Amino acid sequence: MEVWRADIIHPLDELTIEYVAGGCLVIDKGKIVALEKSIPPGASVIYDYQGKLLLPGFIDTHTHLPQYAFVGLGAPGLLQWLHNYTFPEEMKFADVVYARKVARAFFQALLQNGTTTVCSFLTTHKQAADIAFEEAERCGIRAFLGLTLMDRGNNYALQVPKKFALQHCLALIQKWHRRGNLQFVISPRFALSCTSSLMTEAGRMAADLDLLIQTHLSENHDEIRATLEAHPEAKNYADVYYKNDLLNERSLLGHCIHLGSEEIQMMVDAKAVAVHCPTSNQFLMSGIMPLRRLREAGVRVSLGSDVAGGYELSMLHEMRLCLESSKTLTHLDRLQGNTEKEPVSIEQAFYYATLGGAAALRLADVTGNFLPGKEADFVIIDDSPAIPMADAAYMSLPERLSRLVYRLNNRGVLKTVIAGQTVYEDSFASP
Ligand code: GUN
Ligand code: ZN
Repeated sequence: MEVWRADIIHPLDELTIEYVAGGCLVIDKGKIVALEKSIPPGASVIYDYQGKLLLPGFIDTHTHLPQYAFVGLGAPGLLQWLHNYTFPEEMKFADVVYARKVARAFFQALLQNGTTTVCSFLTTHKQAADIAFEEAERCGIRAFLGLTLMDRGNNYALQVPKKFALQHCLALIQKWHRRGNLQFVISPRFALSCTSSLMTEAGRMAADLDLLIQTHLSENHDEIRATLEAHPEAKNYADVYYKNDLLNERSLLGHCIHLGSEEIQMMVDAKAVAVHCPTSNQFLMSGIMPLRRLREAGVRVSLGSDVAGGYELSMLHEMRLCLESSKTLTHLDRLQGNTEKEPVSIEQAFYYATLGGAAALRLADVTGNFLPGKEADFVIIDDSPAIPMADAAYMSLPERLSRLVYRLNNRGVLKTVIAGQTVYEDSFASP
């Protein structure tokens, strides 16, 4: 039995966070046994991180591994950005040496940011996808990865015809799905780059094999317009996915910014997840997802960095933009006389980046907080760089959380642990 002593913070649900200062996380064979207020008798190994924070590993439910190389570069406009940066970069993954180099750097950076579970798109290249799974397995991260599906549009070099793409999916599923901490995700890029027939067959494969699905929905006005032109049979954007068996309780839909009320109801009825990517939404000037409105309607929500639409892999940064974008929308609401609304709370943002992400990925009984029986996925953070006067003032839970989210970024991550195994350690930090 191991004991990890630190100031422990974890969510119990969307609104409730437990804070045990000087608490002890008791672990046995990689699983959580208990969260205690003091060292229990019989503990053999004690890792002492007194004064440091111990949090659940972060969960990034929407990102793009093959876009890591050009993170921070962009144009304010999704379609132009895809054309100028994204598609040319993703074409480079035909080169397996390059594909491995980026995959390795990407997973390493996630662990360095305290992310223990990630759901990511890959490119359309089967070999590069194979390599991404190999690298994820090598570094120990919990990874949901999907071969990106594209069989229409004007970016011919990235397209793979349906028959081959689905064969590649099957081969990757057989090799990797549910091997260790890995899962395969069915990943049609978005409705603009997929024929209906590809989407429907991919949706059917996901249903038959009980796989998660990820795609993009209602991110940008030009994209929406082009999508409805490309799929005139659909009554709205969400309906394109509904009609093609891609909108259900296994679907994670990135962005969901400009949904109409009918589409929001479709998301609720389908029990689909809206993945909020506030950094990307701001960076690409896509708009602001009405998070509170979606939650009030009953839509499931999680958070995603959407690199390289987003420019940080840090889920602390993503929480910050989640809060700030909600404040902006609330401000606009109030200008219109809607004065009783409040922005989302820091507890909610913390939940979306941890337990909410786990729930979105159907891992709520595996990870996301410290209930007994779950896998021990956690991150140890020295938050002293966030505290200017290095004193004991302002150390209540909301105050500590606030400085963690607003001031720390990816500084201070000392250790990242998955199922009890250390997968990242800051080599400069003293034990
Ligand atoms: N829509 C289709 N592909 C992409 C992508 O790679 N990034 C973002 N942000 N939106 C998309
Ligand atoms: Zn995306």
